[in-house]
Amino acid sequence: MHCTRKITDELYYVGGDDRRLTLFENIHPVPLGVSYNSYLLLGSKNILFDAVDWSYCRNFLDNISYLLDGRTLDYVVVNHVEPDHGASMEEVLLRYPDVKIIATERAFLFMHQFGFDIDSHEQIIVKNEDSLKIGERELKFITASMVHWPEVMCTLELTTGAMFTADAFGSFRSLDGRIFDDEVNYERDFLDESRRYYFNIVGKYGVQVAALLKRIEEERDKVRFICPLHGIVWRSNLEYLFNIYDKWSRYESEEKGAVIVYASMYGNTENAAFFLASSLCEKGMTSVRLFDVSKTDASVIIAECCRVSHIVLASCTYNFAIYPPMESLLHHFKGIGLKNKTFAVIENGTWAIKSGDLMEKYIAEEIKNNEIIDGRVTVVSSLDKSKEEELKQLAESIVVSVNRK
Ligand code: FEO
Repeated sequence: MHCTRKITDELYYVGGDDRRLTLFENIHPVPLGVSYNSYLLLGSKNILFDAVDWSYCRNFLDNISYLLDGRTLDYVVVNHVEPDHGASMEEVLLRYPDVKIIATERAFLFMHQFGFDIDSHEQIIVKNEDSLKIGERELKFITASMVHWPEVMCTLELTTGAMFTADAFGSFRSLDGRIFDDEVNYERDFLDESRRYYFNIVGKYGVQVAALLKRIEEERDKVRFICPLHGIVWRSNLEYLFNIYDKWSRYESEEKGAVIVYASMYGNTENAAFFLASSLCEKGMTSVRLFDVSKTDASVIIAECCRVSHIVLASCTYNFAIYPPMESLLHHFKGIGLKNKTFAVIENGTWAIKSGDLMEKYIAEEIKNNEIIDGRVTVVSSLDKSKEEELKQLAESIVVSVNRK
């Protein structure tokens, strides 16, 4: 049951798609699936770069054994231990008892913690900027701590020009047989899921991503392939990839526009959000999107909020507090380190209206490095004429702010 793809005459893709998984990390929906990428480099010594999730283990082992065709596996390079990659490495170690393991010291610690049986294998600990010659191959190791775990490293194999980048440059969605950037319509089919993956999985570590990008830039003339652990392999348009990652790592918006996220129990806060959206459109804004925080998964809202410059939060009050799904979204914003955004706030309640104060306080004190536009609108139960005027004024303030950015 093998299914592999050739990257060069000696380097092969041995990973695969998971279309059955409902929640990645048991939290993020993956309706379009996800791929677990692994790479096998054949030669006088055969080297495997990372492994796959347990769910794809059987095919993965078949892929390796098919390509080895009776030869042995000599080395495994573990760039990232997290079980969506590391789980099947345990089985590789059992099936190839003489295989040597190359990883950072922390990766070996994590392999121990996850119960990998590594003690019978030769363990080669590598540090940042170490090089290692294996047969005709030359490996260079670049640590990338916190992209996305602390043990992570990237490995540049100089004879093929393949850079194995762990979770960096990864994406949600299955590959469906295609593996290269020039085999897909990236902006149509992958960009949204790449953004959603980036901001929800590694977005918090923008500083570390930026440092990795800088380091790759220094090796740019040697890098022919970017081989991540999820998503497509880049061989044609690497500059596009680096540019978009550079933007994302700095939380720079891709578009001037507004995302309006609303929390509404009986439709009145929703109505205020719709009214604001219409007012923005009447004033000429073309990038306006609305999300019901109770309906749309947080990972989707987060990705859209990261894409645009302005975020409007409209929430009813609930138990003297922010409506829980909206409060949860704010915690996610804090968790991913959202910054460089301009917020506006609408609140609603029938008595003891609190959500606006609490949302603004949370944005200012917990999320940080964002602006809040003056002119919060307080809806008392439902919209009336005076509130419609206030919403139009808020729309005007947003448009002015968008045009200033
Ligand atoms: Fe795809 Fe951090 O594991």
